[in-house]
Parts: sequence; C-alpha cells; structure tokens
Amino acid sequence: MSEHVSDSAEWQAVQGHAEKFSSVHLRELFDSDPRRGERLTAQVADLYVDYSKNLVTDEVLAALIALAEKAKLRERIEAMFTGEHINVTEDRAVLHTALRLPRGAELVVDGQDVAHDVHEVLDRMGAFTDRVRSGEWVGATGERIKTVVNIGIGGSDLGPVMAYEALKADASIECRFISNIDPTDLYQKTHDLDPASTLFVIVSKTFGTQETLTNATEARNWLLAGLGGDQSAVAKHFVAVSTNAQRVADFGIDTENMFGFWDWVGGRYSLPSAVGLSVMLAIGKEKFGELLAGYHVVDEHFRTTPLEQNVPALLGLLNVWYDTFLGAQSHAVLPYSQYLHRFAAYLQQLTMESNGKHVRLDGAAVDYQTGEVFWGEPGTNGQHAFYQLIHQGTKLIPADFIGFSVPNHDTGEMHDLFMSNFFAQTGALAFGRTAEEVAAEGVPAQIVPHKVMPGNHPTTTILAEKLTPGVLGQLIALYEHITFTQGTIWEINSFDQWGVELGKVMANQLAPLLTAPSAPASSVDSSTDALIARYRAQRGR
Ligand code: F6P
Repeated sequence: MSEHVSDSAEWQAVQGHAEKFSSVHLRELFDSDPRRGERLTAQVADLYVDYSKNLVTDEVLAALIALAEKAKLRERIEAMFTGEHINVTEDRAVLHTALRLPRGAELVVDGQDVAHDVHEVLDRMGAFTDRVRSGEWVGATGERIKTVVNIGIGGSDLGPVMAYEALKADASIECRFISNIDPTDLYQKTHDLDPASTLFVIVSKTFGTQETLTNATEARNWLLAGLGGDQSAVAKHFVAVSTNAQRVADFGIDTENMFGFWDWVGGRYSLPSAVGLSVMLAIGKEKFGELLAGYHVVDEHFRTTPLEQNVPALLGLLNVWYDTFLGAQSHAVLPYSQYLHRFAAYLQQLTMESNGKHVRLDGAAVDYQTGEVFWGEPGTNGQHAFYQLIHQGTKLIPADFIGFSVPNHDTGEMHDLFMSNFFAQTGALAFGRTAEEVAAEGVPAQIVPHKVMPGNHPTTTILAEKLTPGVLGQLIALYEHITFTQGTIWEINSFDQWGVELGKVMANQLAPLLTAPSAPASSVDSSTDALIARYRAQRGR
C-alpha cells in the first residue's frame, strides 16, 4: 500500500511546529517584524488578502508548503483542470472550472470538447434570458414575466439564492427561491404572486430529489388552479435545469425548455452552469458573464501561480494547520456586506459536503481531523451575537473577514463607520488587551481579569474595492479552491456525498409509514416507532 501523506516526514514537520506553537503570540510576531502586515499579504485578481494575523511563522508556512508538495497539490490541480476522473467513487471528472472558460477555449475530455458544450448552453440561456427580460416571452395569458421562482435544493438552491442576494443591486427581475419540502416555504413564496406573470425554474441535477419534485408538482397545481386548468400553460411558465432529460420529460416539462449540464459538475459547484439561470434572468447575460469571468481569473491563478503566492493554496493550508494540527473545530466567515448574508450558508454546503469525510481516497480511515464546521453572519450583526465567544471564550476559531472599500449604496459616512468595525475587530482579536493595559484605565483589580482580552485569535482579511458580479465570482472560486486544497492534503474525495444519499433513501422509505391508513407494525427502531405513532395521532391517523 502506498504511503499516506500523514505518514510523511513533511507531515511530522508540521506536527512538530504545532507542538511548540502554543507559546507564540501575534503581539510578539508583529513586534519582531514591523513589516509583517505588508509582507504576509497577497493579491488575487481584485482580492487583497492579508493573512498576517494568522498564527504562523515563516517556518510554519514553509513546512505547510512542503506538505502541499508532498501531497502533490500541483499535480492534483492539473488533474482536476484537465478532466481526469478524480471523483473516484463516482468515476467522474470534476470540471466546474470548465464552466467559466472563455468563449473560444477548447478542452477535450473523454473525447468531447466540453468548453464548446458549455458555451452552447450559455448561449441558449442568454437567448432565453433576453426574451424574458425584454417581454418577448410572455405567460399563457399574454402577460410578461415579473417574478422568477427557483425550485431546487442544496447546490440547486444555495448558489443561486446566495448570488441573487449578493447581486441584488444589479437585479431587475425579482427572484424567489423555494427549497424546503416544508409546505410553508412554497406557501410563503407563492401566496401573493400572480400565476400569469410567474416563471418557475425547476433546478435539479438528478431530477429525482424528493423535495424539488414535490415542490414542483405543487407549484404546477397552484399555477393550473390560478390559470383555469389548461395544461398547455405549463410550457409558458415552467423551465427545467437538469442533467436528466428523460426525467424532465416524464415530469411534463418540454425538453425544448430545458437547460442542461453534465455529470462532471457537482451540485455544490454548479452555480456557474445552467443552475445559475435564475441569477442570469435577474441580472442579465452580460453581468452573468462578468461573474463567470471573475471565477476564471481565480481559476487561472490557482492553476499557474507558485504555491508560495497561490492564495487559495495558502488559505487552504492555513485551514489544515488550524483544523488538523492545532485542533480547531470550526471556521467563521464574516462578510461585512449585507448583500452577502447567504454567503456562509452557501459555503457550508461547499466546504462541509466536500470535506466532511472520514476515509481517504483509497478507503483507509483517516486518523486526523478533516472538514471543519463553517458558519457566520454578516458584520456587524455577528458582533452583537457571537463575537464575545471568539474574543474571550476558550475555543480556537479562525475567522475570515470579507469587506469592500466602496459601498453599493453610498450614504456618506455610514460605510466608513461600518468599515471601522471591520478593521477594529481583527486588531482586537489579534492583539487583545493585557491586564496591565486594563488596570492602567483604573479598572478595579477584581474586575481586571474579566476585561482582559487574550488576543491571539487568528483572522484573514479579504478586502476588495466593491462587490460586483466579477468580484463575487472571484470570491466563490477562491473558496472552491481552498476547499480543494484541504481535500488534497487530507487525501479525501471532496466530490462525492454518500452521507447525504442515505438520508434521502431513508426519508423515502419512511414516508408511507406516516400516511398509511392503519398504524404500521413496529418496523424501524423503538424511538422512531414511538415518534411516528405520536405524529400519526396528532395528525388524526
Ligand atoms: O444534498 C445532497 C445533494 O445531493 C447535493 O449534493 C445536491 O446539490 C442536492 O442534493 C440536490 O440535488 P439535485 O440537484 O439532484 O436535486
């Protein structure tokens, strides 16, 4: 059996640094190197990345880069970009980077020019988008489309909703998003809509997901009830995005109104495919093109930049350092932009569905931490909720601060006040407040320990000029490649999700037990049986 990365001397070297690292404080690291705050920075496209407030020395960074070389990160990147079947458990290429190749590029994978296929679909999406936005495409009663309702879940929801919310300043058609199978979601998003001016975009890679098909069926009933029951109305109000044309047709959507993608696009990586159709409808095809161009520039950086300056690689290695070697369990993502209020939720699927794995590519169990818990809220709301625990609690929580110099809506000095919080927080987290400093303010001795801020809490600051479609694409690609870097060091498959599949199968098996006319015989486990009995009683069954 081949040697695992965790058996290597490079891994041991990083481990050695971790064992002696607890005595190092960011205050000393900054005091001993007055240029640290300029030195440990990097630029990728429009993103200025300051990683100086991380718990690393130059030696640690060098050891992490050596570990990345040992894990063959560069070769793995090339394997992904060229379409090798690196998703070994599903025997698939992983080619979300092909979705943002510029027009005219060529990439032949498994005998097929995938770049050509990508642009063919983008052109169809663009033509459809133009028709809807111009009013040429009308509903069954001749009304133009006012609201787009995206029905999908997981990657078929989180990417589109996050990007729509992030780019709302550029949106000229309202979009709503139904994901949960809780009927409340469908009710809330449709009850005040006019079916005559509503377009449903049903998004499902497999077109077999219980939540999406159930919501789509109910949406169709709602539409037909509102428009007098004529089935032909469906063709004017329903389009599909999927890899499975047969199931789309079986559902009753004309495949003329279907936008395809491919099995080499993972759900959580699918926003830049036809899955982003609702976003394109909202912002137009040109701005959607800017989003894709933003992704692409970071893709190129990741593929071609030496590891020492390779921003996604460096940030991924820092995450491995904290999670695997220093024992952090979670990672906060704190965007100082209200428009990015769904960014952490989006990243939760991207990072946790990708790297929440317990065996390596060869099936051997890992004996180290993988896949940290990602979470976060936009600043400054988070400051008044959970920052206390980061500042003075006992846990190691690395945090990413994402901010913009120019606001999308300028009201004079309000943005400056907002950003003063952004800059203040990373300083307070890094350097804290010593007992001497607190006492010097005249604080009574017994209160001093309560006011001490230990500091030494690591943060990375990502600063861009303005949140635009292009910058959003850059940010998403950055986190995709951070996730890839971590998965490579951990030797796991970041592109399957078998754990989620089991839950889907079990829900389908349990559904008949809830609705059967007579109480089912004991069939699951004693806890679930009792809960179902109570549920049935409360439903009058
Ligand atoms: O949540 C599990 C998952 O398989 C995700 O990977 C995927 O994004 C989601 O379900 C939805 O799947 P589909 O697009 O096939 O409906």
